[in-house]
Amino acid sequence: MVTGRPFAPYKGRTGGARCKPTLVLRDRRQLMALFGRKKTTVGLDIGSGLIKVAVIDHSKAEPELIKVAIVPLLADAIVEGEIMDPGIVSEAITGCLAAAGVTTRDVVTAVGGRDVIIKKIQIERVKEQQARELMRWEAEQHVPFDMESVELDFQILDPDGEGMEMNVLLVAAKRELVEAKLRVLSEAGLTPAVVDVDAFALHNAFEVNYPDAMTGVVALVNIGHEVTNINILDEGVPILTRDITVGTRRFREDLQRERGLSPEDAAALIQGYDRSPHLDAVIEGRGEEIAVGIERAAAFLASSSRSAGALRAVYLCGGGSRIPGLPDALGTRLRLQVEQANPLTNLRVRDGALESLVTDEVAPLLMLPIGLALRQPN
Ligand SMILES: Nc1ncnc2c1ncn2[C@@H]1O[C@H](COP(=O)(O)OP(=O)(O)OP(=O)(O)O)[C@@H](O)[C@H]1O
Ligand SMILES: [Mg+2]
Repeated sequence: MVTGRPFAPYKGRTGGARCKPTLVLRDRRQLMALFGRKKTTVGLDIGSGLIKVAVIDHSKAEPELIKVAIVPLLADAIVEGEIMDPGIVSEAITGCLAAAGVTTRDVVTAVGGRDVIIKKIQIERVKEQQARELMRWEAEQHVPFDMESVELDFQILDPDGEGMEMNVLLVAAKRELVEAKLRVLSEAGLTPAVVDVDAFALHNAFEVNYPDAMTGVVALVNIGHEVTNINILDEGVPILTRDITVGTRRFREDLQRERGLSPEDAAALIQGYDRSPHLDAVIEGRGEEIAVGIERAAAFLASSSRSAGALRAVYLCGGGSRIPGLPDALGTRLRLQVEQANPLTNLRVRDGALESLVTDEVAPLLMLPIGLALRQPN
């Protein structure tokens, strides 16, 4: 395993004409390449409600989804992104990989949340090697974490540009967050090939399925069980990520407390297909929180970026995006195009990959694990 170093544990990379984030916080693929190339990538999304695994075959011209598995996690094993009970989590991970028929120990997983910061910065145009040396100093100016305890990576977005300055995408994560993830994986006997960042994995899944989302300013909003992750893309570059602690759990609790529903009835409404007055009432409050989160992220971008335009569209994914009436309510409130996104829109899917799962019911939940599995092996 690559051990943590205080700064940029591996090379920075240069981007193409349009940025495809290749940033990763930990990467042992070069090491693994010595032992032969792998054809498949296993994406592992450790959600607070559901553990999700997606396996993608990269051996053909186009990636193909060959297997998916979803396993529920016991309540409160992960709270607000923090792993409270590593034993329960690693057991669920093992179960999920077994359900997917995965025998390899190499997985791609990610970190996200408030201990991860991504930022687009401008620095004087220098060669990549020199940029790497500058980056620590730059990060100190832009990242509100103690530099001794972060993992950094960066990507030059316009390596062929000619101006005096160049654009750099910087990512910093608290090392403790990465280490905690690695501990739980190691308890499950896994050695992650890559530790990615949630925002970049989502970007990769959207790039394949929604090429339109790569122009202008758009928000990719992943509404999960505990957390809603808001990611802003500017011309295909993921430049801002923010989390708010609203997810299906809060909707369910509101339905129970305010509307007197049983936990089962509340869950059935949330995972159902039909709108109801109960849901509409709850969406009013919680939907507002999500709308404000999106507005704040867009406003922050407008105040901090010289060039970014106004938010053009919102794409929803995650279990919460299935709440009947929520996408419409957000669209009306934000006066924007709000679309529920499906990671299988442009992705080849092998027969039987989803087995007994109902495709329409689980597809929106698969955006992140599919984005992780889209990382090329080696
Ligand atoms: N078909 C489904 N099966 C299971 N849960 C579903 C389904 N459709 C919607 N849900 C809801 O979505 C939630 C899980 O969504 P998701 O997998 O996006 O969250 P998570 O990744 O586990 O959570 P977080 O990202 O907040 O840690 C469930 O708790 C449930 O309320
Ligand atoms: Mg999630």
